[in-house]
Amino acid sequence: MREDDPLLRPYHLRRLRLANRIVSTSHEPAYSEDGLPKGRYRRYHVEKARGGVGLTMIGGSAVVSRDSPPAFGNLQLHRDEIVPWLRELTDAVHEHGTAVMCQVTHLGRRSSNFTGDWLPLVHPSPQREPAHRSVPKIAEPWDLERILADYVSAAQRCVAAGLDGIELQSYGHLLDSFLSPRTNPDGGSLEERMAFPRRVITAVRAAVGPEFIVGIRMALDESCAGGLPLAEGLAAARCYLADGIDFLSTIKGTIDSDAALARVIPPMGAPSAPFLEFTAAVKRELGIPVMHAARIADVATARHAVAEGMLDLVGMTRAHLADPHLVAKIRAGQEDRIRPCVGASYCLDAIYSDGAAKCVHNPATGREGTLPHELSPIHGAPRRIVVVGAGPAGLEAARVLGGRGHEVVLFEAGQEPGGQLLLAARSPRRRDLLGIVDWRVREAKQAGVRLRFGMLAEPEDIRAERPDTVILATGGSPARAFLGEGGELIEDTWDVLSGGTQAAGDVLVYDEHGANQALDAAEVLANAGARVRYATPERALAPDVGAMIAPGYLKVFAEHGVTTTLAERLVAVRRAEGRLRARLRSEYAEHEHEITVDRVVTERGTLPNDELYFALLPESANLGEVDHTALLAGTEQHIVANPAGEFALFRIGDAVTSRNIHAAVLDALRLCTAIGPCEAKKGAPSQ
Ligand SMILES: Cc1cc2nc3c(=O)[nH]c(=O)nc-3n(C[C@H](O)[C@H](O)[C@H](O)COP(=O)(O)O)c2cc1C
Ligand code: SF4
Repeated sequence: MREDDPLLRPYHLRRLRLANRIVSTSHEPAYSEDGLPKGRYRRYHVEKARGGVGLTMIGGSAVVSRDSPPAFGNLQLHRDEIVPWLRELTDAVHEHGTAVMCQVTHLGRRSSNFTGDWLPLVHPSPQREPAHRSVPKIAEPWDLERILADYVSAAQRCVAAGLDGIELQSYGHLLDSFLSPRTNPDGGSLEERMAFPRRVITAVRAAVGPEFIVGIRMALDESCAGGLPLAEGLAAARCYLADGIDFLSTIKGTIDSDAALARVIPPMGAPSAPFLEFTAAVKRELGIPVMHAARIADVATARHAVAEGMLDLVGMTRAHLADPHLVAKIRAGQEDRIRPCVGASYCLDAIYSDGAAKCVHNPATGREGTLPHELSPIHGAPRRIVVVGAGPAGLEAARVLGGRGHEVVLFEAGQEPGGQLLLAARSPRRRDLLGIVDWRVREAKQAGVRLRFGMLAEPEDIRAERPDTVILATGGSPARAFLGEGGELIEDTWDVLSGGTQAAGDVLVYDEHGANQALDAAEVLANAGARVRYATPERALAPDVGAMIAPGYLKVFAEHGVTTTLAERLVAVRRAEGRLRARLRSEYAEHEHEITVDRVVTERGTLPNDELYFALLPESANLGEVDHTALLAGTEQHIVANPAGEFALFRIGDAVTSRNIHAAVLDALRLCTAIGPCEAKKGAPSQ
């Protein structure tokens, strides 16, 4: 217990007592169902409350009007039926001593014209929003009147639901679009540009009464050409405070393009806590309660920020997606057991790729109804379990099984754990990915898992352990054989990332996968001085690399003049005059051409390393079969397809098929949390 910890000191926001200084700031995980915060949404926030967070902000951008259609699963505050759902969530969060507030907004142009009720988006000017490719209409006076009324009704619904407060959103949405000279170029003076936001604040304050907390999350400095300068941002903030705002959550920058958003929500590779000094300066200037979040991912930085008075409430938002029990672990003196947010920003990107936030290495986040954040011990005799492979899937299996009390040995052929993550982390920008590995290794060791590196497991090694269950997480190897001509002349991205190829000359990086790997290889090569041409048969560049991560690569591409070719398939490579001729065929026309390069590097995902699996299959009781119904229900696997079988056999991660980190750890968690105690004890394993 560390009650002297600055982070754990209570904080009084007017009459609201927050148990500590740590906040999960507003973010929309897109867990809403039918626009309402039903079970999934509630469970997600309650888990953080159980974990001790002082304040959880819900409804990242809960929308007030029907012409603010949900862009990313936003809660719909314009509907009366949201109140009981909000009430249920609020009560459940309060039970754990955590405060809860909701972010309230009109998205303005930050949505799509082609969703929801298909009402036209509104904005002070007809400027297109690059991130959502939306073109708004200019808001008319009657639009503003009804939106003003919508803000009032939405705020009243939050009061009715028993929330502790609301936060108005003012960056990249409607309110700030009036304030900013960039998005409201004909808006006139500062006084004129802040007239509408001030009317909204005044009306909301009047509607909710003097006691209800109303904050604002605003860009005080847009930090771009023609954008809101700090002096104007501070002047506006002073007026907003006079109009009834209680706290300020600071933002620096804009969010209307991928690159801009990635600066405001910095991913891995970006400096830690980049806006802390800025926030401290704003706090000094305005002297009001200040909250801030931006890549304050580790407890030490958060503690420093609070201890130095740079802010009052520290947002650790993605840190809570990665570990909702972060505060409880601080209290328990177990900071070293916090699952670290590595900044992969898969949480944000998954909203667009899969419709809901997912933490790259915490598969239980957002799945609280079916998957645990804490491991429950087995009641009964432990199983003897062999796990093969120490990539993310194998390490997760070992962590979970060991943590539940099974006797686990993990064999890894390499000298160190990590699998493909070791390759990905060779890129300096992506080094933090190793946090996914290191945390699991620590947890597995703590749970007593025997980790044996440099051990290429053969079937007899597995048999010698006399296991009840065998889990193969042997990963995959590059899918390299695909060319009709010249297959022996190409290299793959693993060669590049492991440092095995020279960088000089002209290099074609051919990407038939669409994820990070080819971009990583192109970056490594370009940084090392190669002239890189990136080619893909896709009609977009690396479609599985999301908006938060792509800007880092594209910056490198721009700085090093990496050229890109879309919609072309590599069909052959041949030698010519000491160099290589690569033949590319259009995906859409009867057209082929050749380019001359020094190297061809390909990326096509992996093929499973499944020799061990097929060697052991005949000896297994389930013949490798997985009962999907049981898997998804979180219950034990009971398939016996071969009564003479000695053990249950499963494979997970890329040993099944080429996927990603999240899929690998999800495979492991949902299989292994359901593996219960052993029914019949066997003899001791050989040493
Ligand atoms: C999945 C996700 C969705 C987000 N949605 C919102 C949002 O709707 N409104 C908002 O103000 N911020 C949103 N954010 C930004 C967070 O509130 C926070 O500012 C950001 O994650 C940086 O803080 P962190 O480094 O502690 O995560 C979102 C963040 C994430 C990860
Ligand atoms: S996906 Fe990455 S950035 Fe998002 S919470 Fe998980 S570790 Fe953090």
